[in-house]
Parts: sequence; C-alpha cells; structure tokens
Amino acid sequence: MAQQEDVFKKIVSHAKEYGFVFQSSEIYDGLSAVYDYGQNGVELKNNIKRYWWEGMTLLHENIVGIDSAIFMHPTIWKASGHVDAFNDPLIDNRDSKKRYRADVLIEEELAKIDDKIEKEVAKARKRFGDSFDEKLYRETNPRVSDYIRQRDELHERFAKAMNDNDLNELRQIIIDREIVCPVSGTKNWTEVRQFNLMFRTEMGSTADGAMTVYLRPETAQGIFVNYLNVQKTGRMRIPFGIAQIGKAFRNEIVARQFIFRMREFEQMEMQFFVRPGEELKWFDYWKDRRLKWHKALGLGDEKYRYHDHDKLAHYANAATDIEFQMPFGFKEVEGIHSRTNFDLSQHEKYSGKNIKYFDPELNESYVPYVIETSIGVDRMFLSVLCSSYEEQLLEGGDKRVVLHLPAPLAPVKCAVMPLVKKDGLPEKARAIVNDLKFDFSTHYDEKDSIGKRYRRQDAIGTPFCITVDHQTLEDNTVTLRERDSMEQKRVNIDDLHKLIHEDVSLTSLLRKLG
Ligand code: GAP
Repeated sequence: MAQQEDVFKKIVSHAKEYGFVFQSSEIYDGLSAVYDYGQNGVELKNNIKRYWWEGMTLLHENIVGIDSAIFMHPTIWKASGHVDAFNDPLIDNRDSKKRYRADVLIEEELAKIDDKIEKEVAKARKRFGDSFDEKLYRETNPRVSDYIRQRDELHERFAKAMNDNDLNELRQIIIDREIVCPVSGTKNWTEVRQFNLMFRTEMGSTADGAMTVYLRPETAQGIFVNYLNVQKTGRMRIPFGIAQIGKAFRNEIVARQFIFRMREFEQMEMQFFVRPGEELKWFDYWKDRRLKWHKALGLGDEKYRYHDHDKLAHYANAATDIEFQMPFGFKEVEGIHSRTNFDLSQHEKYSGKNIKYFDPELNESYVPYVIETSIGVDRMFLSVLCSSYEEQLLEGGDKRVVLHLPAPLAPVKCAVMPLVKKDGLPEKARAIVNDLKFDFSTHYDEKDSIGKRYRRQDAIGTPFCITVDHQTLEDNTVTLRERDSMEQKRVNIDDLHKLIHEDVSLTSLLRKLG
C-alpha cells in the first residue's frame, strides 16, 4: 500500500512536470480541490470527451446531445431534492477547529478494522506457507472472527444511522468508537450538522431584489428540464437518449486524492428515456454497454468491477457503479442509475406544466422512466493517467518514464525530429510536420540528443517518433519509432499517414464498440 502511495505521488508530480494538471491559483498558494489542466492535460481531456461523445451520439441514432446552462431556475433544485437532501453530515473538533465529514470518519474506522483483518491473514499466510487455507483461517481464527464481528456491527449501525438520517447516532458512533481528531488527537467533538453541498450565488443586483441561484451540482437536471424540447424538435421516439458534457460544482468537505474529488469538475451524463416497465431491461443494457466502452481502451480488463448498490436512493430501483483500480484502491468512476420517473414527475409537479410523452404506438401518454449513465471526466482522466504510468528499467541500466496512453487519447500523436540541426534535415522534418499536422497533433523537436528527445515524448505518451536523417534525403525514408516497444523501422514518408492513422484514430476505438 505504501508503495502504491509513492507511485501515486510520482504520478501527481509527473502530471505537473509535463503540463497535464496544475493546482489552481498556484502562485497564490493554491485553491483547495480545484485544478487547472495544462497544455497536454487539455488535449487528453478533450480526447476522452470526444471518445465519450462520439460513442454516444455517433453510435446511437436515438441519442442526441445538448449543452444547457450552468445557472438554472432555483426551483429546479428544490424539485430534484438537492436543496433539502444534497447534504453531508459534518462534525468539528473543538481543539483543532478542524471540520470533518462524520460519515468519512466512520468509514475510515471501518477501513482500519479491515486493515487489521488483512494484516492477521497476511501474517498467517507467511507462517503457514503453501499449506495455508485462507478461507478456513478467516472463519475460525478467534482474533480475526472478533474483528469481523466488530466490523459487521459497526457497519450495520452506521448504515442504519445514514439511512435514517440520524445525526445524533452518527455522533454517538464516533464517541463510542473513541475516534480521535487526526490533528489534535482529542475526542472533543461538536454535534453533527447537515451541510448542503451546493454553491450559491446571487443573480441580479440587490436593489432589484437578487435571486439566490446555485451552481449546478450535476448536469443531469439540464437534460430533464429540456427533454420535451428535444423530443418535440428532434421528433424523437421513445426509447431515446440525451447526452451532455459540462461542469458541475460541489462544495466537497473532504477533498482529497488529487483530481479524484474536486469542487469544480466535469461530468459526461446521458439520460435514456424509456417506457415504464422497460427500465430494468435498459438498465442491464447500459451497464453492459458502458463497461465495454471502458474496456475498449485496453487499460486492463481486471482493473474494472461493478459495485451494485444494495441500498438505493428513494427514487431509484437499480444502481451500480463502475469502479476502477486506482493506486488507492477500487474507486467509483461512473454510476449507472435507474431513476424511475422521479425527476420528470417532480418537475411536472413543481412547474405545473404537463411534460408527459405521447406514445403513438401505445396511443397513451406517460411520464417516461429514465436510465442515467454518469461519468466524471476528471476521474476518467485520473484512471487513464494512473494505469498508463510506468517507470521502466531499460537494458544497459538506463531508465525511462513512459505513459502508455491509449493512442487515440494521447495529447500528441507524433513527433518529428531531425537527427542533426544542419544539412537540410530540419527543413525536411518541417515539411513532414506541415503535411501531418492537418490530421494529427504533431510536434517538431530538434533540441538535445535524440535519446533525450525520445524520453520527452515517452513522458507525455506520444505514440510515434519520426526521425529524419541523411538517408532520408537520398531515399525519402525515415525511422518510425513506436513508444511502447521502442521498435524502430524504416518506412517511406508517403506511408507515414496511413501507419499513424491505423493506431491513433478514434474510429478504430469506436469500431470496437460496434
Ligand atoms: N447525476 C448523477 C450524479 O451526479 P454522482 O454519483 O453524484 O451522480 C457521477 O456523480 C460521477 O461524477 C461520479 O461517478 C464521479 O465520476 C463524478 N464525480 C462526482 N463528484 C465528483 C467530485 N467531487 N470530483 C470529481 N468527480 C466527481
């Protein structure tokens, strides 16, 4: 685990050193849980968004996109339940004056018990060697059994308190488990209070009577309130979907792990409108379809798992997360939710407008049911970055840091390098750049040794390097070096376009989805 934490630290500093992600407002000592994307980061992020957008809108003729405003009528957030229920339970330590999420303190306590169990099992595995029966040991060892009992009791109590929204009980759990503040080390806790995660601001001048508006905490509501506009103007028939990519804002209290949990982030959401009663069929369809989209990137099938929710929000009748193995464990990257007709019915009620869909086949009107797929761009970015990063020891003791980014997502597709800065080689290299740049993001680099130039491109995940040498002037061939294998082959300049395109085009990735 400690080793993984070290790797994660290296990834974070690599992301900064190579222009992927910067702390926001860094020269003013930063703004917590807010990040900026640099010159390579923005390209990688745009490629992720394009892969998602085209995977939705090009591959499904019944899915269209929209781009709704961040500001919306405040009643929308009342109707959706965000004003009343989008809360985190907070607790303060009176000595350190630090604020925590009560649920996170308890989750960390649960994780500590889990750690103790795993340590016991690891010790026994070492002691017994090949003859170790892990299942039997977990079931019969008294110390492990005691930890499991403690964990199960705590989990049950915690889940009940969260479900009942019982803030006193959450505090009591913290007191009973003798959880201390990590900063002051004391148990001097305040009461637990609810804290709404939405950012508020005011629209209009105060003299005119300003209205409190919210920065949207999810993009989905912009889709719900436009569903009938799109359905009517686009002559859409159920089942159909609306996709949207956009910023969302949450005043997260525990903001940690780099871009995993941010206060300003980006979501890619798709609401799929279906007939009542058909929602679970479509839920299964989207669950399967979304995992395929992830796996097509080739980051490793074993790095994904579903986490089906057994406790559902009151409006949902099925929900699952797609989790990805980050250096800090399996974490949610995407949620797939069967949201029933809750949101649309709420908007119908609060707006007083009829937003029913007339189904010509059934000859009846109804409020559609909705399957939602919701993925964080930044979390997706983090999963791609973490699984691509490798420190490689090369033959001869040399080292390189390489990002094995899926080629269609790489910020730069190829770099063209004259072997030396003379004899007409730079001009020839420039001519190649001028030809390739219309289709691929192409770098020109003539500085430093060729080895150093390769390393620079490896570090940002450029799939191909093209080297122009004296032979090029004679026979119109160049060396094409592939990032992962580092293999070099001699190819004709006229073939470059086709060779690069085969690997880096988004089309080949989309074709895998069928
Ligand atoms: N409309 C449903 C919805 O917003 P969610 O599970 O709260 O559901 C969906 O969020 C996705 O948005 C998550 O799976 C995650 O990828 C991303 N996300 C949520 N909160 C985030 C945060 N604070 N920072 C970065 N990404 C976040």
